[in-house]
Amino acid sequence: MSHPRYRTAIVGTGGIAAAHAQALRDHDDRAELAAVVDVDPARARDFAAAWGVPKVYASLTELLRDEPVDLVHLCTPPASHAPLALQCLQAGVTVLVEKPPTLSLAELDTLAGAARQSGAHVATVFQHRFGAGALRLRAMARAGQLGRSLLATCVTQWYRDDAYFDVPWRGRWETEGGGPTMGHGIHQFDLLLSVLGPWETVTAVAARRARRIETEDVSMALVTFADGTVASVVNSVVSPRQTSALRFDYEHATVELEHLYGYRDDDWTVTAAPGHTDVETQWRLSRTDGTSGHAGQLAAVYDALDAGSPPPVTLADTRQTVEFIAALYASAFTGERVHSGQIGPDSPFAQAMNGTGTPWQAVTVR
Ligand SMILES: NC(=O)c1ccc[n+]([C@@H]2O[C@H](COP(=O)([O-])OP(=O)(O)OC[C@H]3O[C@@H](n4cnc5c(N)ncnc54)[C@H](O)[C@@H]3O)[C@@H](O)[C@H]2O)c1
Repeated sequence: MSHPRYRTAIVGTGGIAAAHAQALRDHDDRAELAAVVDVDPARARDFAAAWGVPKVYASLTELLRDEPVDLVHLCTPPASHAPLALQCLQAGVTVLVEKPPTLSLAELDTLAGAARQSGAHVATVFQHRFGAGALRLRAMARAGQLGRSLLATCVTQWYRDDAYFDVPWRGRWETEGGGPTMGHGIHQFDLLLSVLGPWETVTAVAARRARRIETEDVSMALVTFADGTVASVVNSVVSPRQTSALRFDYEHATVELEHLYGYRDDDWTVTAAPGHTDVETQWRLSRTDGTSGHAGQLAAVYDALDAGSPPPVTLADTRQTVEFIAALYASAFTGERVHSGQIGPDSPFAQAMNGTGTPWQAVTVR
């Protein structure tokens, strides 16, 4: 059955927009990039020229007024995600929003309410969920081939120097919503949560060790899951040897992933427990050359739209991750263990990720 070729637009033509334009080009049989929008007109024009985009707009309002589009890719800084996504929903247009989808759990719930009213959808970009290794791991775990999940570790140790934080929206609660927990480790622990399912409790610390920023530059959490799995999660932007690493210890095998900003199938290793070498064989047999980039998620988004379903990652799935972030900060800043469902709408940690305030002294950032 043939499906429509979706008309799309990218809003925000800065750093990450090229990954979206390339992914759209990879799927040019399924979607066309009809227009780009940026508040910086020269940047938008240069981007449009580089990627052969026919139309340029100075605001989302103008785009939604003048251009019939099916899907908007929001590639703007985090504080603008919720207001711009709301505008799309009010116009009945589905929106694919870069991470972090919102600055707070409250904003996410507002979007969910607006999506229910509008009939259009909000999907979050979590491209690492869609690499071949992640798809295979979830399928094998679901089919019971790995046995029970016992233990997991999830590490995002990256390095961002002081100059990185010169970009005005970075390193501030009001504009980035958090530090490496919100902005960097989010990809890795979102993948962890997508594999292990609902988390139950979080006990965490967060600290500002080296950068002159408002937010944390490191955080660590101990997590328990509904299926009994225990896990640790580390997030950092002060680690000179950088890595993104996940390890899942199942009864029948250890499954590991080590990469930096995107993975191939070769970045995964499987070590079978004695008597379970079939798991290694099974993994090897379905090896592919696929990577974990934006194109993988776009394929899943178009499949869902073709089927008339909400595109992934849905707001319900995203909520698990955003609630986890709020719980991590709540635990770190109050010293308490935080349970899933504990952060209600009136919690300060639902309103803003720094909730009741950080334990470190405020700095004059700039
Ligand atoms: N998925 C990933 O792997 C990944 C990687 C990097 C960044 N990101 C996310 O992508 C988003 C953008 O990051 P970036 O590094 O590209 O930022 P950037 O600052 O390089 O680019 C943002 C662009 O948005 C434009 N803009 C700002 N407000 C706007 C508005 N209201 N309307 C239209 N344009 C507007 C700016 O002029 C700028 O050109 C962030 O949320 C970031 O966390 C995701």
